[in-house]
Amino acid sequence: MSRLDQAATLSLEGAEGVVRPPEDGLDALRGAAFGRFRDEPGSVAVAGGAIAALDADAGAELRVDARGCWIAPGLVDCHTHLPFAGWRAGEYADKVAGVPYAEIAARGGGIAASARALAEAGDEAVLRQAAGLAAEMLAWGTTTFERKSGYGLSIEGERRQLELGRALDARVVQTTASTGLLAHAVPPGTTADAWLDEVQAALPGLVADGLVQALDIFVEEIAFGLEHLDRMGELAARHGLALRCHAEQFTTMRSVPVAIAAGARSVDHLAALHPDDVALLGGAECAAVLLPGAEFLGEEQVAPARGLADAGALCVLATDLNPGTSPIAALPVIAGLAARRYRWSAAETLAAMTLNAAWVLGVHGDRGSLEAGKRADLLLLDAPVEHLPYRFGHDPVVAVVCGGRLVHARSDLAERLR
Ligand code: NIG
Ligand code: FE
Repeated sequence: MSRLDQAATLSLEGAEGVVRPPEDGLDALRGAAFGRFRDEPGSVAVAGGAIAALDADAGAELRVDARGCWIAPGLVDCHTHLPFAGWRAGEYADKVAGVPYAEIAARGGGIAASARALAEAGDEAVLRQAAGLAAEMLAWGTTTFERKSGYGLSIEGERRQLELGRALDARVVQTTASTGLLAHAVPPGTTADAWLDEVQAALPGLVADGLVQALDIFVEEIAFGLEHLDRMGELAARHGLALRCHAEQFTTMRSVPVAIAAGARSVDHLAALHPDDVALLGGAECAAVLLPGAEFLGEEQVAPARGLADAGALCVLATDLNPGTSPIAALPVIAGLAARRYRWSAAETLAAMTLNAAWVLGVHGDRGSLEAGKRADLLLLDAPVEHLPYRFGHDPVVAVVCGGRLVHARSDLAERLR
């Protein structure tokens, strides 16, 4: 790889399909455009970190024979809880045996267990684990991901997790976006209101240090209420940050109308979404980020995803990678779950983890689709888009180009070099 990743001009030539949006310049794919791709034979040329042309470049330093393959945009995972410490496999066994999440949390498990693990782990151990997971994500095609705090549960702890996230950036090839999940669980010994007072006081410093681009809050009976969501929205607006929200995961709280009124960029989970809120999201400038990995492993309800798509909602998929509810790093696995359980087409799952996910992070102008001039984040796949969900558990990624560099190659890429 060392020589190959030096090449600054690349040409992927003669692919069976180059998967592009129905037209260039779209912010997102929703309504009639959801899952509508042009998928025609062709080539892609890369130069200076960007997509130079939807055409071959015979003079490129690195030329790849893409016959029998498909070229797709790099995947965007807009909801992960990286970096975190350790795992919680014992809890999963308990869940499988029938213990509900709220009871696990009440026993000191759940978020509190990962908070203890993070507090006890050294920086190097946290970074090593997270970098390993980012490498795994890359091999499954993720070229951009969001990372959060939320396991600090004290202001110093949240700041440390955000700083570890920034240190992680230097160890991964992907680009990341940082979200302060500053209201995840009410820290022991305080109240939700008092905790938000602390968050409010700490935010100017976190913002000044460039540690957060978005704020997030877990709205749930065992976490924070609608009034706290509203307050988080005010804080986000005051600091020019995007508002994200863990909403309607276990309990129907009616947090979606409040989140939209507060200007939320996304509402994430929605397994327990109230039926009246489907149409609301259909017309909102707020994405529905669906997390079928958490739904499946936690035997949660299933989000009304077909209805959301048909209502015109801006539909997004993500892993929710975290040690509790969704220890899944692979977006193609999420595509497999979504197609089967949401009755989405393969192309809809791809739209939901590329351009639409980029919209959530505010980077849709620069990535999330194959368009000349956009950042060259792209995948060489050994199968058409339809195979993504169908061959559940298969990794179709032959090669990954990120920022214009070949950063990951399966051994069979060697046969394709010209
Ligand atoms: O997205 N729901 C809240 N937060 C995470 C789970 C965190 C955990 O269990 O560690 C989620 O599912
Ligand atoms: Fe989450």
